[in-house]
Amino acid sequence: VAPGSASGATAFKVDSPYVRYADGAIESDYMYDTTIVSRDAETGQLKAKPTKVHYQFQTKTSVGRVGLMLVGWGGNNGSTVTAAILANKLGISWETRKGTQAPNYFGSVMMASTVKLGVDENLRDVYVPFNEVVPMAHPNDVVIGGWDINSLNIAEAMRRAQVLPVDLQRRVYDELKSLKPLPSVYYPDFIAANQEERADNVLGGTKLEHLEQLRKDIREFKQTNSLDRVIVMWTANTERYADIIAGVNDTADNLLQAIANGHAEVSPSTLFAVASILEGAPFVNGSPQNTLVPGAIELAERERSFVGGDDFKSGQTKIKSVLAEFLVNAGIKPLAITSYNHLGNNDGRNLSAPAQFRSKEISKSSVVDDMVGANNILYKKGEHPDHTIVIKYVPSVGDSKRALDEYVSEIFMGGLNTISIYNTCEDSLLASPLIIDLFMMTELMTRVTYRVKTDVDEVEPQWQPFHSVLSILSYMLKAPVVAPNTPVVNALAKQRMAMENIMRAFVGLPPNNEMLLEHKAF
Ligand code: NAI
Repeated sequence: VAPGSASGATAFKVDSPYVRYADGAIESDYMYDTTIVSRDAETGQLKAKPTKVHYQFQTKTSVGRVGLMLVGWGGNNGSTVTAAILANKLGISWETRKGTQAPNYFGSVMMASTVKLGVDENLRDVYVPFNEVVPMAHPNDVVIGGWDINSLNIAEAMRRAQVLPVDLQRRVYDELKSLKPLPSVYYPDFIAANQEERADNVLGGTKLEHLEQLRKDIREFKQTNSLDRVIVMWTANTERYADIIAGVNDTADNLLQAIANGHAEVSPSTLFAVASILEGAPFVNGSPQNTLVPGAIELAERERSFVGGDDFKSGQTKIKSVLAEFLVNAGIKPLAITSYNHLGNNDGRNLSAPAQFRSKEISKSSVVDDMVGANNILYKKGEHPDHTIVIKYVPSVGDSKRALDEYVSEIFMGGLNTISIYNTCEDSLLASPLIIDLFMMTELMTRVTYRVKTDVDEVEPQWQPFHSVLSILSYMLKAPVVAPNTPVVNALAKQRMAMENIMRAFVGLPPNNEMLLEHKAF
């Protein structure tokens, strides 16, 4: 078994009157410090008022048995993540030109990064694994299943993907051979025409029958594998955007009615989202299209089910959400960000069609908006840097995606600075750990409830789950979907800080900051 602890392990216990370990749960009292800003009506001056909100969090400690159902299981991401988890679980190593390679979870924030817990008596930092701050599911324990419009078993799908080293493929082949994707929903209008030849494993019948079948699939998977919870994730082809039409997908009821009527504008991915919501299974969209139409979000809120999206933030965009933040926060003004990609896998083939490329272009474009909007010294209201995105399909590079980025920025006294980046990487080796992180963080959120206490409570407020739209997943996603009227955060460091500090709050620990006052005093 790979390094790392089993599901539910934590690296420490908190010693505090505000934290209780009891009855299969950790309960914490937590003072949330914020600053409320207002403007004086007469003088126009800003006024900043520190405020405290008293939260209580309850985190169930038992993870139970959890399943992950992937839509697009037989794709490059689906087959790669399945094979890699299996190799980790069974401790399968393989031979390379450089010697024996052991499996690992590199690239997963949860599995391969650490969080500063605090300082020891000598004021030295103490770090713990990210997944041991609160009890989390371990990927080695997850039961994986899913759907694909293509019938290849996962062993053959892994071969077709041409991602993992061939000796590893040989060693996991037999274990993966028996894994077969369930038939899926195929509406040719939503993905590129060049995908048609793959569609040999599709459901017949009406849209409503499709919905019922997907719900049944989730229920049966849960039952057959004795699972406490199932999480559904879309890692299938990028679809075109669905039109948002009044009376069709704008409200929960209209969306359900549109499915019953077989309306053409309900996409396969939205159907999966609706099926998951109705089954109480959290749903995460790893592709860029607008799966989570307003009606789907309203339905999730109504059912108190979780949804998250959109589009795995793996390579180029991840760097962009670091670099743009660095530049703007350094007082440097990006004027133009120009991004080229070329890739040769099936994702690239699908994205070579204009409507599917457009979905990707939209999700890649929004990524610097919050950083630009935060600096009114560099940017006037409504002003934006030029931002261009090009994607080309080049079959011979396979899954080894190339990304070329040029950042041209205005520096001191009108000078220009140009940064050029060239990034090469196996696309699916970047995306697979994100699937694991999204799964782990989503699973955690199903076990957490909170309430807000005030001095004037006459009765104890009710415990309730977090909002249905899991904005805490933003770090892993290019175009984070957030609850209505909530700000979108794209900056990577802020996104990580949010995950880290919210998890700390669950165990009553103050947010991490980099003040290091203990090292600054005489
Ligand atoms: P892929 O093309 O290898 O796999 C997609 C799979 O989905 C295929 O096996 C296809 O048969 C299946 N499929 C298509 N429509 C389906 C449906 N309605 N139901 C069930 N299965 C269906 O693509 P890959 O590389 O695995 O990427 C998957 C998705 O993740 C793409 O949308 C891609 O844009 C997105 N993504 C990938 C990233 C990466 O690999 N680094 C980063 C960000 C997003």
